[in-house]
Amino acid sequence: MCSLDGLFQNNRAWANQRVTQDPQFFARLARQQAPKYLWIGCSDSRVPANEIVGLDPGEVFVHRNVANLVVHSDLNCLSVLQFAVEVLKVEHVMVVGHYGCGGVQAVVERRSVGLVDNWLRHVADVAFKHLHRFDLSEHPISLGRKLVELNVVEQVGNVCRTTILRDAWKRGQQVEVHGLVYGLEDGLLRPLGTSIDGRGQWEERHEASVQALASMSDHVGG
Ligand code: CO
Repeated sequence: MCSLDGLFQNNRAWANQRVTQDPQFFARLARQQAPKYLWIGCSDSRVPANEIVGLDPGEVFVHRNVANLVVHSDLNCLSVLQFAVEVLKVEHVMVVGHYGCGGVQAVVERRSVGLVDNWLRHVADVAFKHLHRFDLSEHPISLGRKLVELNVVEQVGNVCRTTILRDAWKRGQQVEVHGLVYGLEDGLLRPLGTSIDGRGQWEERHEASVQALASMSDHVGG
């Protein structure tokens, strides 16, 4: 008796069901993966990449960490990005944040959660950078929603600044970077800001996304 028995049972049932629907399913996937999408999302258990966008195994390459951060020197994230863009040749890189993110909320509420505080410092950096866009008298939940959105847009910028995307665009490779936010309360994914490809000055479009987001939040109050 193993404490994971329930999971093994689920797994066998799932594999059987797959083979019943499509006898070649696993044989085909084992030979190669050709995903069009890279998902960079939060580790939060309520935001499962494939399921939310209805994609099968083999269709989305995934990197997740607490608060969906793309840190310039994070070899883990950079390696995933490089492999996805240069080897798998994904056409879309999606940075996916989510409302109700515990990591972002801890920053808003200045709550210490241990070692992960050091990682979340990157979210705090985003908050400091945009401090003038926040009305600190607002409810912490609405401040959190705004920081979730700004964090996504900033991480989209970080993806675009990597040598990986800059080199890909220089080569003329078709790859677009998107910011998205997921609502835990309604299960819906929404676009945030402008999608960015290699044409023209992406920095201007990125800045426009930040500005649009800030003024939109001003109108709806977060
Ligand atoms: Co989260």
